[in-house]
Amino acid sequence: MNQQPSHQTSIYTDQVIVIWDILVRLCHWGLVAAFITNYFIVEPGRQIHEIVGYIATVLVAVRLFWGFTRTKASLASFKHIDLSKRAFKTHLSELKERRVNPEHGHNPFGWLMVYLVVVLLLGLGVTGFLMEEIDALFGNSTLEWIHSIMADVLYASVIVHVIAVFCVQHRGRVQLIRPMLVGKRQVEKTAASKTSR
Ligand code: HEM
Ligand code: HEM
Repeated sequence: MNQQPSHQTSIYTDQVIVIWDILVRLCHWGLVAAFITNYFIVEPGRQIHEIVGYIATVLVAVRLFWGFTRTKASLASFKHIDLSKRAFKTHLSELKERRVNPEHGHNPFGWLMVYLVVVLLLGLGVTGFLMEEIDALFGNSTLEWIHSIMADVLYASVIVHVIAVFCVQHRGRVQLIRPMLVGKRQVEKTAASKTSR
């Protein structure tokens, strides 16, 4: 909680800000379900593995379309991507000061996760397609190796991603998981300050 000087009282109003629209959330949790299904549950080589893998690839394509077509008014827009040194520095100093700007969408590390997931899932889709649909490449061991490495790298990234989400949420005092579930973030806003002396 913010500490106020004793002579001053502040009036706080809770404000609710829309962060993630329904499509971003559906794509996110759809990808989570697809990854868990294909990595941990179904046997590779079964038809369900292919179907779930293609669904994940389509979800990535839909999210790409969404990111490129939104205006800057939407936090889902790729116009918000900023991977400059300054953006990373600002985010790290916000974490140090324990106040991440609640009106922002992804921090630069979050955008990096978007890049990683796009590259790896599209890669899994393409290598899977080549192994399954192109007769000359059926069961190709190099492709299978690349496919499995990409799946493992994605798994490692997901572990880092989930740990990072919890750390930033706690350290930066900002709701991250709630907006990815219900779309909105509750923000404590100083509406006015009164001096009592
Ligand atoms: C297979 C597992 C996962 C994958 C592939 C994944 C991927 C992603 C991607 C690509 C984004 C960016 C979303 C976008 O802009 O469209 C994202 C954001 C996010 N993910 Fe995940 N995620 C996974 C698991 C999880 C889990 C288990 C949680 C819950 C703890 C989680 C919480 C979040 C949150 C809170 C954000 C928004 C972070 C921010 O505000 O910058 N993710 N994730
Ligand atoms: C969410 C996306 C996907 C994930 C996480 C995933 C994960 C995996 C994993 C972990 C393996 C085992 C690799 C090994 O042998 O060590 C595998 C194998 C395989 N995957 Fe995927 N995959 C995905 C998408 C796809 C897609 C879209 C296809 C295309 C049709 C596909 C086709 C295959 C095939 C043919 C194998 C080899 C099966 C065998 O050993 O008989 N995968 N995948």
